[in-house]
Amino acid sequence: MNIKLVKDCQKFDIELIIVNNLNKVNKKDKNLLKLSGFTAQENQSSFLSCNKKYYIGASSLKGEDLKIAFSNAVVGLKQFNAKIIKISLKSNDKEYALEELIEGLLLGSYEFNKYKSKTKEKKLDIVLDIENSSKTFQELEKNLNKTIAICSSVNLTRNIVNTTPEDYYPQTMANDAKKIAKKDFLECKVFGEDYLLKNDMNAMLSVGRASRHESQLIHLTYKPKKETKRKIVIVGKGLTYDSGGLSLKSSEGMLSMKCDKSGASAVLGIMNTLKDVNCPYEVHGIIGAVENMIGGNAYKPDDVLKAKNGTTIEVRNTDAEGRLVLADCLCYAQDEIKDIDYIFDIATLTGACLIALGEYTTGVMGHSEKLKKKIAKASKKSGELVAFLPYNRYLFDLIKSNVADISNTSSSRAGGTITASMFLDKFIKKENKQKWLHFDIAGPAYKEKPWGYNPCGASGTGVRLILNFIENLK
Ligand code: BES
Ligand code: ZN
Ligand code: ZN
Repeated sequence: MNIKLVKDCQKFDIELIIVNNLNKVNKKDKNLLKLSGFTAQENQSSFLSCNKKYYIGASSLKGEDLKIAFSNAVVGLKQFNAKIIKISLKSNDKEYALEELIEGLLLGSYEFNKYKSKTKEKKLDIVLDIENSSKTFQELEKNLNKTIAICSSVNLTRNIVNTTPEDYYPQTMANDAKKIAKKDFLECKVFGEDYLLKNDMNAMLSVGRASRHESQLIHLTYKPKKETKRKIVIVGKGLTYDSGGLSLKSSEGMLSMKCDKSGASAVLGIMNTLKDVNCPYEVHGIIGAVENMIGGNAYKPDDVLKAKNGTTIEVRNTDAEGRLVLADCLCYAQDEIKDIDYIFDIATLTGACLIALGEYTTGVMGHSEKLKKKIAKASKKSGELVAFLPYNRYLFDLIKSNVADISNTSSSRAGGTITASMFLDKFIKKENKQKWLHFDIAGPAYKEKPWGYNPCGASGTGVRLILNFIENLK
């Protein structure tokens, strides 16, 4: 999709008009629309061939409603043979937020066609008429470029997650990290299993042991041009496939487990954006890329593993592998990076999160109420749904082990998302407790149906939320 800002666009194939109230439409069009059964509801559309206007219904003309309307519009446009699409930034005295409009278009038009032998992807030219806008051309252009950068990264994350486990394994992820680093002048360190062994990262190492693909610890660093005191660390779960290991998943449960790399893919998406949005803070992206498989060399329920910080872990279920990988990655991050301001981890960690919150919401956990408030703001602004799950002293008792310092599973299924987060808490240093948040994206990261402006498959959850948090830091 090409997007151009123009003043007074005359040449176009179709003009796109979003409406939430038929009374705002001129009389002639209103009568024609009424005749076609169009009442300006979300998910409705009507094309008037007499004046080439394509009307799209919306619940309101701002926020998520507007993004969804533009997303529906761009999906609907696929049925036409049109190339040049006109959109007026200001219509009926209402000026759309450029970011929302562009997000709807770019996120809504995404398609994953890598494995389709025949595709008819059409490239649209969007001409955004900025006549009568309250903003200057420079302001609009800056916003446009920023939004394109963010949406391209969300779509990059989606591409990575959607790629099959046969084509995408830990080394593929390391190569992608190197590519991003090269393009944006980031520092990129990649460590293989020798490093994990030498550095006592036995929890992460064990998870990948039965895989034919070597596990990779990936560390990307973005440093702004101007010296900064702020340091943000984002750790991602990168299970390029989660078969469950010897505690094997059911056929149904295993299906779509290529999505278990969604946290790491979001980290790559975020790191891919920082230079383009001129981020003023130092940001570290750390990824544990591992494949959880079965075989004679697989780690087993009953094993006791020692993590990098010396904590011993009783393995009671090899399908609770994400927390083992994250435990070592969190230790690595805190050992290598001093004076951290914020440390987040993002992971498709528990199926229980879907049960608790429904499949569209990210579960956020941590000790700092102040930090959670900042995330609540970023959620509102980005449109990514979050809910905060509370800790309590009784749940902490459920991950105790009879044979080791801690068990990798809770003795109760109830509260499984919270107890998984409590497991991770054991690997957060005292000085970082108030700086840490855990994001469980098992619900929204991947779905076999489209929702809002998200397509069938990967959504790119976390990228816009965390970039928004970073953008609004003061
Ligand atoms: N990768 C899964 C969690 C998951 C489930 C992600 C559904 C996306 C959709 C994770 O590794 C896992 O298997 N967790 C177990 C934990 C249990 C064994 C304590 C689960 O949720 O059942
Ligand atoms: Zn698992
Ligand atoms: Zn997993």
